[in-house]
Amino acid sequence: MDILPKFRLEVYDNEMIPDELLIQSVDFVNEMLPGEGFEPADFKKIYGKTCLYKNIFMYYMNDKLVGVCTCNFYPDPDPERSDETLIYMMVIAMDKTVQGKGVGTKFLRSILQMNNQSDVWIKIHKGNDQSKGFFKKMGFIKMPKKSMPEMLNPSYRKPYEVFVRKCGRAS
Ligand SMILES: CC(C)(COP(=O)(O)OP(=O)(O)OC[C@H]1O[C@@H](n2cnc3c(N)ncnc32)[C@H](O)[C@@H]1OP(=O)(O)O)[C@@H](O)C(=O)NCCC(=O)NCCS
Repeated sequence: MDILPKFRLEVYDNEMIPDELLIQSVDFVNEMLPGEGFEPADFKKIYGKTCLYKNIFMYYMNDKLVGVCTCNFYPDPDPERSDETLIYMMVIAMDKTVQGKGVGTKFLRSILQMNNQSDVWIKIHKGNDQSKGFFKKMGFIKMPKKSMPEMLNPSYRKPYEVFVRKCGRAS
């Protein structure tokens, strides 16, 4: 009889994450996204003057690390939503052995549920059809690049497209 997988989400503030978990999360993402070459400082530092904080999400299946995501949080510039945050999702990556099995959906859904008052923006490498399909299924829509709030615009080395998931959208 198959043992049902148990999932666990851990969330770390960039200032508080223990060094060994920081290194593990960076190595994990670099292995799943060859060519990105993230450094520990990329997960640790705050981008832009208005960035409030950064979270590193680590997802475990039966105690094995299977997913890592990092998000930067900014104040929402809309005056009517001044108590809310906007999220720039820097990266999300699943272990190769679980990709395509619905685990990324569970992981991203957990992150979105924890932050369900925030719009979430992401830049996706133009050639990454796998992740475009994934984000569209999760309720993200493609937007003109110019519509991305300026403060959420850290440099991106490759040709990219911009997607957003407005808060309150079903997934
Ligand atoms: C993109 C990624 C996070 C998705 O996680 P996942 O666990 O593989 O995705 P799921 O199994 O939950 O799939 C959900 C949906 O994504 C899409 N999808 C997943 N794999 C796909 C593939 N190889 N090609 C096209 N669409 C794909 C499908 O729409 C799928 O829904 P379906 O199974 O009903 O068809 C994961 O594949 C990954 O880590 N890729 C490498 C890193 C990366 O590219 N990250 C994104 C940019 S930061």
